[in-house]
Amino acid sequence: MLLKNCRIVSSSKIIMADILIEGEKIKEVGVGLRGDEIFNLRGKLVIPGVIDLHVHMRDFSQKYKEDFTSGSKAALAGGVTTFVDMPNSSPPVIDAKTFRRRLEEAGRKSLIDFGINFGVVTDNSRFLKDIRPSFCKIYMDGTLGEIDDETLRNAIRRCPKTAVHAEDINVIKENIEKFKGKEVSDFHLKIRGPEAEEKAIKKIASLTASLNKSVHICHISLRKSLEYLNENVTCEVTPHHLLLTNKELKEKGGIAKTNPPLRSQSDTNALMGALKNRRIDIVASDHAPHLEDEKEDEVSAPPGIPNLDIMLKLFLTLVNKKVLTLSDIVRTMCENPARLLGLKKGEIKKDNYADLVILDLEKESKIEVEEFYSKAKYSPFEGWRTKGCPEVVFIRGEIAFEDEDFIVKRGYGKWIGGM
Ligand code: NCD
Ligand code: ZN
Ligand code: ZN
Repeated sequence: MLLKNCRIVSSSKIIMADILIEGEKIKEVGVGLRGDEIFNLRGKLVIPGVIDLHVHMRDFSQKYKEDFTSGSKAALAGGVTTFVDMPNSSPPVIDAKTFRRRLEEAGRKSLIDFGINFGVVTDNSRFLKDIRPSFCKIYMDGTLGEIDDETLRNAIRRCPKTAVHAEDINVIKENIEKFKGKEVSDFHLKIRGPEAEEKAIKKIASLTASLNKSVHICHISLRKSLEYLNENVTCEVTPHHLLLTNKELKEKGGIAKTNPPLRSQSDTNALMGALKNRRIDIVASDHAPHLEDEKEDEVSAPPGIPNLDIMLKLFLTLVNKKVLTLSDIVRTMCENPARLLGLKKGEIKKDNYADLVILDLEKESKIEVEEFYSKAKYSPFEGWRTKGCPEVVFIRGEIAFEDEDFIVKRGYGKWIGGM
């Protein structure tokens, strides 16, 4: 297949060229290429498929919230061609048997390519010799049970790649004790105050330095957190921590409840600046779907926001508003995630997999939760006006999504660990 006259975006430039696809891969990128099955794109913008390093596909016993099919459809319609699944499923992915079951489930159901993470708990590092997770995921907030310093240290030392949820469990516990039984507003914000994230990130940064190992820090939310980053640390930001503040949490209640919590305008400004000046490496969705009903009562609402359907749209809108460039998007959503995973994806170049997204930068729409392919029909971004969207999505040389239609079937997605 030959795509003629594409405006190809990379992190450094936009060039006009043709893309020759052979089988699953890009055979050549250049001017005046020859081939059959020609599509003339007449100058349309083309970016690499988005690689989302932080997705909770639920499934297993929580398939009522999301399963690999519904979640991967939301991703694909949103220009995402590869995702990495988090291990806090039910049951959690903390042993080799469950890891394999997860792989099998995703392989059967996902429309797009996927990686699977492994959750770190005390004494489970022995399973690592039998499996190949994308990351070992460490929850410092006790999501998978409390882990001691020894376990934390060993995980960073032994796992090929680690990703961390950085909020300190002891700070959270102290706060719960402090505010227990009191009539306080903003309970969630107070329990998971900034000091929980600061303490955790400080600890991780110093561990990476002393062990000389790199770690990926998930969903950073504070201006202050940026100060602790060092050359051993990569980090990610979510759409909601960039675009929303605790004002939205006050207005929208449970729907805007997430971990870490939404912070202040000063924090979002600092995060946007850090994204532009490359101190933040990656944008990831932290797609954390729950049922709309579960989100009704703010106090009992489980934390998490579903973003897969709309993440790219939100960022293309920022391009139209001249807040970000297309190259910023490609760097943080395609190239850097691919580099971190060691994938032949994320860049439109010879020998890479032909994962491509043709963009329509002019199309305007409004975010409507009923249109989500995700099972989670709520969003703190509901009603936002967007400009720009993915139009056609290719995965490994096949047209996978076009004109709001899924062309590939469930099961098309492949495990990136086997590529
Ligand atoms: C995530 C979830 O629902 O699984 N929730 C969230 O608020 N981000 C867990 C997590 O990412 O820590
Ligand atoms: Zn997390
Ligand atoms: Zn998450």
